Amino acid sequence: MVNNLKNDLLIRAAFSQATERPPVWMMRQAGRFMKEYWDIKNKYSFLEMCKTPEIAADVTMLPIDLLGVDAAILFSDILVTAEAMGGDLSFEQGVGPRFSNPIRSKQDAANLSTDCLDKLQYVGDAIRVIKQRLDQQVPLIGFAGAPFTILSYLVEGGSSKDFKLTKTLLNNQPELAHSILQKIADVTVAYLNMQIEAGVNAVQLFDSWALALSWNDYKEFSHQYNNYIISRLNRKDVPVISFCKGSSVFAPLMAETKPDVISVDWNADLLHIKQGLPKGIAVQGNLDPFVLYADKPVIKKKILDLFERMRGEEGFIFNLGHGIMPDIPFDNVKYAVELIKEYRY
Ligand code: CP3
Repeated sequence: MVNNLKNDLLIRAAFSQATERPPVWMMRQAGRFMKEYWDIKNKYSFLEMCKTPEIAADVTMLPIDLLGVDAAILFSDILVTAEAMGGDLSFEQGVGPRFSNPIRSKQDAANLSTDCLDKLQYVGDAIRVIKQRLDQQVPLIGFAGAPFTILSYLVEGGSSKDFKLTKTLLNNQPELAHSILQKIADVTVAYLNMQIEAGVNAVQLFDSWALALSWNDYKEFSHQYNNYIISRLNRKDVPVISFCKGSSVFAPLMAETKPDVISVDWNADLLHIKQGLPKGIAVQGNLDPFVLYADKPVIKKKILDLFERMRGEEGFIFNLGHGIMPDIPFDNVKYAVELIKEYRY
């Protein structure tokens, strides 16, 4: 393995090599369940935090310093690509992300820029600051949103319960949908390759809302674009993690895109998913994040049950099936991380 990381458990597991225990990190680990996050957040807007490399680095480091997880994830958001393409993005307290200029017509789509990597240079700058701060302690994970999930935010103008406008676009104007998806895919390739160039040790593609799609629509509107992206990454020794909610169903298709790791939601039996994948594809997951609201003996049992199930499998990274919720007790998260770090196969 050509890396200088002091702790490279995540990289080894991602490449399906043996590890003494499963590496642990958690989606949304750099966030609102930590008091120290709020100490920073109360002074700046979310986008200011993302766009100021020193602040993004401070937040990225919180879970390393306070929890001791085996990987850092860049503090940013999947929607920054959509903003760079022309989306007028804001994050409102209690509302979440909003685009004031949703993309609904051919003209809106034509206005989306693909020549926008310069607008995302602050992310490369943040990566360079974070890498210095990390000093090779643990790997840094970069990420981007997958085209379908980004499209859904651009079309709906924000979060959605049912993706009604997005699905109506896919159904009534598939060519228009494809033209937007292709633009997002091209930006995402350049953006992730820029992150790799800046020094991230792994990348994760988040297709959070793929779950909303039927099998055929997933193939047509999500899968082929994720494949386009993953096949164009300058991967070298940088593992690629593919995440979606819906991976319990879509894992066989996700495997066709040849990621190093598939990150699995909490619905499926993880061993069953793993055994159905081609050799050499690792899995990440898949504790139901709601378990972290439970009493500690319950947290312990559910994690150890998962580990017993995965015993003997090379290529297993512990994570949640989706992100940590903001009101999960910090103490429970810390307990889970410590338990995992003491575990040995
Ligand atoms: O994982 C990490 O800790 C790294 C940082 C990170 C954030 N967002 C920070 C964030 C990552 C990897 C993301 C990814 C992201 N953003 C996804 C994919 C992962 C997933 O959860 O499915 C999605 C769908 C988004 C879009 C987004 N950003 C939403 C829906 C929201 C607000 C609503 C909510 O409750 O999550 C955000 C805001 C956001 N992104 C916050 C953080 C820490 C909260 C900002 C605040 O403090 O108000």
